[in-house]
Formats: sequence, structure tokens, C-alpha cells
Amino acid sequence: MGRLLRVPFLVDLIRTADPSGIRAFANDDRLDRNFSGRGPLLNRILTRKVRSVLAVKGVPLPSVAPRGDEERARTQAELQVQLDAAAARIVDDDSVTDLARVVRGLEDAPILEHAVQQTVGRLFAKDYRATEQSWAAAQLLDKAVHSMNPLAAIFWRITGRIAHAQDLLAEMVHHDRAGVHATGIAVHNLVRGFKIMRNLFAHPNAPDPAAGDSVVARCLQAPESALREASAEASVGVDEIRPGTLVVLDLKSAQQHDAGPEIVFLSGSWSQCPAAAWVPALIRAVWERALQLPPPCPERVGGPFRVESTRVEAARRRATYRSILGCNLALQFALGILILAAPVWFCRSLGLVPASGEDLVRIWGVTLLLLVALYAAGWFDPIYTRWPNMVGIVGRYATAFLYLFLRGRFLWLALFDGVFAAALTWAYSQVIRAELMSRP
Ligand code: HEM
Repeated sequence: MGRLLRVPFLVDLIRTADPSGIRAFANDDRLDRNFSGRGPLLNRILTRKVRSVLAVKGVPLPSVAPRGDEERARTQAELQVQLDAAAARIVDDDSVTDLARVVRGLEDAPILEHAVQQTVGRLFAKDYRATEQSWAAAQLLDKAVHSMNPLAAIFWRITGRIAHAQDLLAEMVHHDRAGVHATGIAVHNLVRGFKIMRNLFAHPNAPDPAAGDSVVARCLQAPESALREASAEASVGVDEIRPGTLVVLDLKSAQQHDAGPEIVFLSGSWSQCPAAAWVPALIRAVWERALQLPPPCPERVGGPFRVESTRVEAARRRATYRSILGCNLALQFALGILILAAPVWFCRSLGLVPASGEDLVRIWGVTLLLLVALYAAGWFDPIYTRWPNMVGIVGRYATAFLYLFLRGRFLWLALFDGVFAAALTWAYSQVIRAELMSRP
């Protein structure tokens, strides 16, 4: 029913993108979301990550809570009633007009991501106002739950950024965990959908007023995947599920073959999404309102494309900066290790006699490694973590000058820090400029 990946002590996972397989697994009594944190290494890493990222104060969000969790089931049922009612009166909603202005590409429209997050947030808090910080928090949770980078996970944990993002999102929805799931995780599916709608309106496309049904189908975007774990009682069956086996339901890929609510929202299963009626109603309402709006002024035609292209440019600049910084950090890390491992050799190669003992030189190596750890914070997120980048650039200029004064073979180190300081200054200024240009 799916692709099995089983390596003793390392991983035990089944993955399926087959719609009939997904339906069967979604209703399989042996599968749940207990995420025990036991099993082979990769299973542990994956379930621990899900449990720590998709939670508030250690309590799991409803979308990853176990089947038998009574509060989850109650929230799901209550939310479904609330959202079904909201779906019926969605046409009168102010948020719909904001979103319609966004997809129409109007000059004074809000930023798409903020408008979507605010629309979802207002289901939980009438005064919800999406900000750059709330959107960054949602992006971080989404990135963290999909990331397979162990260094990034360690960094996020040490700096407490995940907890901060969870707390911020929770505060904004009055500590409703379903609200945190909606504004931090589910919101990304809606954003992808409204980007598709924005492209349908973008010049030179001519929107077809009769295409409502197909537009809703196109803009309805399933989540990447849903995760299940076989319970301890699961006995070996023909499909090779064992206790602890992880099952990944590839909803996004399955949607290519079957776009029904049983796949997109897992409707009909115990974990069905309570927003299965509200989301299509919102998409349709925005489409219809956008059709009524006047097209953007001629000089703004192509605006959304321009915005998109400036975002691509911003992403390109970020990638360049991160490559230069990554290269610098790798070299600095290697230098730190070298100093630690061979302090005497290192001193001699600089033309120095380690008069004060090897330990002092080793402290230099440790300092370099600590600086790498400090500067690495800026590599992970150059935009929202600006201070390590700024401090890093200024610091490199300072050390370049210091080495310059020391002369001799220190000039090589001065060259190293000076060249990287100049390259990083240039690349970082481009990053900031491109980022500002991408936010009209
Ligand atoms: C395009 C938008 C959306 C899609 C495609 C979607 C899809 C899904 C899917 C597939 C699940 C099941 C996850 C699993 O079993 O592991 C789910 C669960 C859930 N969704 Fe959505 N969702 C969307 C938007 C929303 C919104 C806007 C809300 C809230 C306003 C919401 C609230 C929930 C909740 C609370 C659950 C957990 C249900 C439970 O197991 O108790 N979703 N969603």
C-alpha cells in the first residue's frame, strides 16, 4: 500500500501518495498520533521534532494530538460547527475584501501572507492583526517542522526561537491551540492557494467569471503530508505495519490524482479537518469579490509579477550572502579546530614562539569556534536575525585591522578577514535592499 523504508535501528517508515492507500491508512485503527518518541533513530528524531514544534508549552496542537485525546475531539467538533456557520456568512466579511484586493493586485492592498493569516486569525480573535512578526513565527514553525537539518534544530532550540514563535502565535489567538495550528501551520496551505488565484488575475490573464468551481479546485491546496505512528498493539499485517512504524500520508502528491475532501481534508476520518467547508467557501467568496473589483490602474498592470520578481531577487541575494557566509564559517571552523589540535605548529607557522604555553593558543582556537557559533545564527535567517550578521561584519573589520598592526604572517589573517568583511558587507547590503524592494 506504500513504499516501505526499514533499516534495523535506523528507520521504520511507510510512505504513500496513493489516494486509496491514504483513505485506508486514515481509517486504520492501528495508526494514531501518540508519537511515543521510541523506535529506530530516525523515527525518534522525526516524532520528537513534531512533538516539540507543533505544541504550545509542551501540549500538542490538535492536528498532532492522539485520537483518544478528548479535548482534541471536542475542539474539532466545536470548531466544525463554528466554521460551518462562518462559511455560510462569509460573503459579508471584511477580510474577503482585503484578500480580493490582494489577488486583484490593487496598489494599496495588504501583503498576501498577512491578509491570509489575519483572516484565519479573526476566526479565533476578533481583533487579530497579522504583523511581520506573526508571519515570521508561522514561517518558522512551518520551516522547523519540515526541516531535516539537525544544526538548524539545535540552533532553534538553543535560542528559544521556536518557543517564542509558539508563544507569540498562542497569545494572538487567546491561547486557543486550534488557533495556533490554523495561524501557524494551516495558513500556509491557504497562502499557496491565494498565490495561484493572484496569478490567475495577473496581466495578461483574463479571469473567466464562470470558472468558479475550477478556481476553487485549483486554489485548494492540501498540506504536504500527515503523519501517523503504529500503536504498540499493532500486530504485523500484510502491509508490514509493526508497533512504532511511522506512516507518512503524502497528501500533496495524492491530490494530483484525487482532489476530493477525503484527501485534501482527510474528511470522513477521525482526524478530519474542521475547516473543510469554510476553506472552499472563503476561496469562492474571494474569487467572486475580486471579479467585482476594478482592475488595477494601467501603470500597475503586472504589479503582482513585479512583486513576485522582486521576491525572487531577494531570495537570490539571500542565497548569495549565505554562500559567502557559509564558506567563511566553514573556513573559520576549520582554523579553530586546527589551532586546537596543533597549537604549536600553528604558532610556528605564524612565526611565533608559543612562549606562554599551548593553552593560551588553544583559547584562541576556542574563541574562533565560539565566534562561528555566534555568527552561524545569522546564516540561518539573515533577515530576522540581523544582529549576528552586523556584529559579524564589524567584528571581521576589527580583527582585520588588529592583524594588520601585528604585521608579519598575520597579514594573511588580515587578508582573510578583510576580504570576507568586504564581501559580506556588499552581499548583506544587497540582501537588505532586495528585501525592502520586495515589500511594496
Ligand atoms: C487549505 C486549507 C486547509 C487544509 C487543506 C487543511 C487540511 C487538514 C488536514 C488534512 C488535517 C488532518 C491532519 C492530520 O490528520 O494529521 C487537518 C486538521 C486540522 N485542521 Fe485543517 N486544513 C486547512 C485549513 C484549516 C483551517 C483554516 C483551520 C482552522 C480554522 C484548520 C483546522 C484544523 C484542525 C483543528 C485540525 C485538527 C483536527 C483533529 O485531528 O482534531 N484547518 N487539516
